[in-house]
Amino acid sequence: MNTRTFENTAEFALAMDAADPIRGFRDRFHMPLTEDGTEGIYFTGNSLGLQPITARGYIEQELDDWARLGVEGHVHAKTPWLPYHEFLTEQMARVIGAKPIETVVMNSLTVNLHLMMVSFYRPTLERRKIVIEKGAFPSDQYAAESQLRCQGLDPRAYLVELVPREGETVLRTEDVLEEIEREGDSISLILLGGVNYYTGQAFDMRAITEAGHKAGAVVGFDLAHAAGNLKLQLHDWDVDFAVWCSYKYLNGGPGAVGGAFVYERYAQSFDLCRFAGWWGHDKETRFLMGPEFRPIAGAEGWQISNPPILQMAALRASLEIFDEAGMSTLRAKSEKLTGYLEFLVGQIMNERISVITPTDPAQRGCQLSIKVENADKNLFYTVTERGVFADWREPDVIRIAPVPLYNSFADVYRFAEILNGCLNS
Ligand SMILES: Cc1ncc(COP(=O)(O)O)c(C=O)c1O
Repeated sequence: MNTRTFENTAEFALAMDAADPIRGFRDRFHMPLTEDGTEGIYFTGNSLGLQPITARGYIEQELDDWARLGVEGHVHAKTPWLPYHEFLTEQMARVIGAKPIETVVMNSLTVNLHLMMVSFYRPTLERRKIVIEKGAFPSDQYAAESQLRCQGLDPRAYLVELVPREGETVLRTEDVLEEIEREGDSISLILLGGVNYYTGQAFDMRAITEAGHKAGAVVGFDLAHAAGNLKLQLHDWDVDFAVWCSYKYLNGGPGAVGGAFVYERYAQSFDLCRFAGWWGHDKETRFLMGPEFRPIAGAEGWQISNPPILQMAALRASLEIFDEAGMSTLRAKSEKLTGYLEFLVGQIMNERISVITPTDPAQRGCQLSIKVENADKNLFYTVTERGVFADWREPDVIRIAPVPLYNSFADVYRFAEILNGCLNS
């Protein structure tokens, strides 16, 4: 569907909703209310996804089993706790386009990033640099810089930051690829976000991975804003590793357990440097409590501690829903929903705002980033006072993320009316 077929009317939005094959999924989530008790327009699924109505039942099951069985729940709970993370693997693998052996649900994002860098950032005399984006999420920047320092390397010399061209707000793929070629065999690791948290730009992960490998580098992605948002094919794209969180598009709840992907070719690479813990130890012999660490083959071997079951229970509820809806279907709706948002915002003639997210649907996910002239945060306050859940990112952006699982075309239409009212009345 292209922009010319959109219409700026409530009837059109309602007709789009009526024709939406997955409109019913909205009823599977708790929709937060505004102060006056009415349903809000929730566009912050890129920050904290909504609670699946089934999450409570999944968590209560574990609480009941804990009450009933105590320690025996590790083996005798309805969903036994010892292998609990395994019950999430296949569904998570489908969300990220990976094989189960490449996928593990564990820890949180930045922790996983460090674990991956310990294994995959192995600088040599010639290859020492880490390539990231300037303006990457700060945690990635801190993690990369601290890994460099731990290797005795000065980030000012060995951290390469990709910067958009003068006067532009997002990176051009051709510039990213050129920079990788130029830095060539000085690069040890390329670490980019799948989708930039601020601009909403999605990177061409396949092309970047190919260019990185051609240069002899390892390529990893932070998928915080991509998992459950884009149709990922990490295995087919040949990505070396990836990490993500589950509290955004994956609706796993505040502080949800994140995940890591490690390409199959490393499944048996037991000699890789890694921070070991008993949960990554071979399952057959874990409880023999021997002194020698023998990692599980595949991504599971990067686990360290036994996982938080209550958090994983909430995530299971959400992954069930993802499996039912399917990433292809979600993505197809998402492109239309965000396209409609872009169309309606474009109809609001006002010089106080501009959209900095790429217009090409292949270069973005759900989110549009609306830049506010003179960093006027009052616009954000007024919009949120009128029932919109959005967020402000310094210095000057309002992020709006219509999520295909639970947002509607009518939400987008109502938001555009509110924004128009705030700007033009
Ligand atoms: C792109 C990106 N990377 C990293 C993080 C940090 O995640 P965590 O607190 O789970 O380590 C976030 C959090 O919002 C993020 O958006």
